[in-house]
Amino acid sequence: MQHFSILKSLLRVALAHDSDPLRHQIERLATAMSDAGDERDAAALVKMLNNRERSASLAPSRIRRSAVSLGERMTSSVRVPVDKDSAAPLATVYMPEVLDARLPLFPASLQENIDALVREWAKSDELLNAGLNPSQSLLIYGAPGTGKTTVAMWLAQQLQLPVVVARLDGLISSFLGNTARNLGSLFDFANRYECVLVLDEFDAIAKLRDDPNEVGEIKRVVNALLQNMDGREGKGITIGLTNHEMLLDPAIWRRFEVQLAVPLPGLEQRIVIADRLLDDGLAAEAKLIAWLCDGASGAEVQTMAMKYRKRRLLRDDPESAPIETALQVAQSTSIRVESDRRRQIQLDEAPLTVELATADGLFSHAELAQLFKCSTKTIQRRLSDSIGEGPSDGK
Ligand SMILES: Nc1ncnc2c1ncn2[C@@H]1O[C@H](COP(=O)(O)OP(=O)(O)OP(=O)(O)O)[C@@H](O)[C@H]1O
Ligand SMILES: [Mg+2]
Repeated sequence: MQHFSILKSLLRVALAHDSDPLRHQIERLATAMSDAGDERDAAALVKMLNNRERSASLAPSRIRRSAVSLGERMTSSVRVPVDKDSAAPLATVYMPEVLDARLPLFPASLQENIDALVREWAKSDELLNAGLNPSQSLLIYGAPGTGKTTVAMWLAQQLQLPVVVARLDGLISSFLGNTARNLGSLFDFANRYECVLVLDEFDAIAKLRDDPNEVGEIKRVVNALLQNMDGREGKGITIGLTNHEMLLDPAIWRRFEVQLAVPLPGLEQRIVIADRLLDDGLAAEAKLIAWLCDGASGAEVQTMAMKYRKRRLLRDDPESAPIETALQVAQSTSIRVESDRRRQIQLDEAPLTVELATADGLFSHAELAQLFKCSTKTIQRRLSDSIGEGPSDGK
């Protein structure tokens, strides 16, 4: 269907204010499209509705705020505390209405843990009646670009609370002596209001330990952090984010009730991440980008997909094959491409076809033909020639 991607975006925006009549009309559209033979786009609409239903069922209908947060209601004109010397703000505040995070794609086990956490918050009344408290502190750790900040924002969005994002590297940076005072101001601010406190780049504190001149000061900073975290209990939800969880002081680590490890995305997830950024009908290209990005983070897959799109759009030779563009992008970016992939992308067309055809059944012959811009016969010939040649000894 022409302009389907625009229609889909439009519907996604409309679904942010979900309503039964809207759902009904989208279902009607999906049925009509399916009847007209447009099965794939119809399925995309149904999937969008199901996703929305799922996140709506997870979203807390009413959090018993008295249990989770006792603070004042924040407005967008709130004054954020600043460093007294540099006047630099200690945090950035995001009001719930501007939050627009999309939950990253995670493996089922992590997804279940996130769902369980949201359920705790959504049903905090039931927990409290049973004498239990919903979790109030969460540490999210994993490699750069794996979606940690995004999931923290998404969680805050589910709670419909403002987010106070403190960048600890900013709090600490130039005036180490003021750090303990800054931490105090930051936590006082967060404790005063109903909000989610996000401590981004949490490892900055740990990194200070590497500086032998600052041993006494570091201890003071870590102690201040511990005290502030203890003082926050019962005042609101705190989410810590770090790339270097191994550097965290064990005492800090223990302060968090829940710890979530965010892994690098697997192949299936990388395909969806790339697919979301490419135009409709480019499923083979999305798979190729996902295959090339073996070992890369979700953010890197996004970067690769965007670069691919731009190169493809502005290519000099309209006849060039998608694989040529993708390989150029892979060769010219700093994105982590595993050494095996680095070797494979140097291969000539025929051996590369063989590598792709044997990549866990990822590509059909038709998709390979699309990528190499040739006929399926050519693909089959390359494959049968390679069988005739026998196994390569890599020389
Ligand atoms: N598994 C994933 N699924 C979908 N999108 C992802 C995934 N991982 C990362 N992304 C996307 O990559 C971008 C960067 O993510 P984000 O900033 O949350 O990463 P981060 O882990 O906080 O990185 P850093 O450690 O550098 O701060 C976001 O647009 C996010 O949606
Ligand atoms: Mg981040």
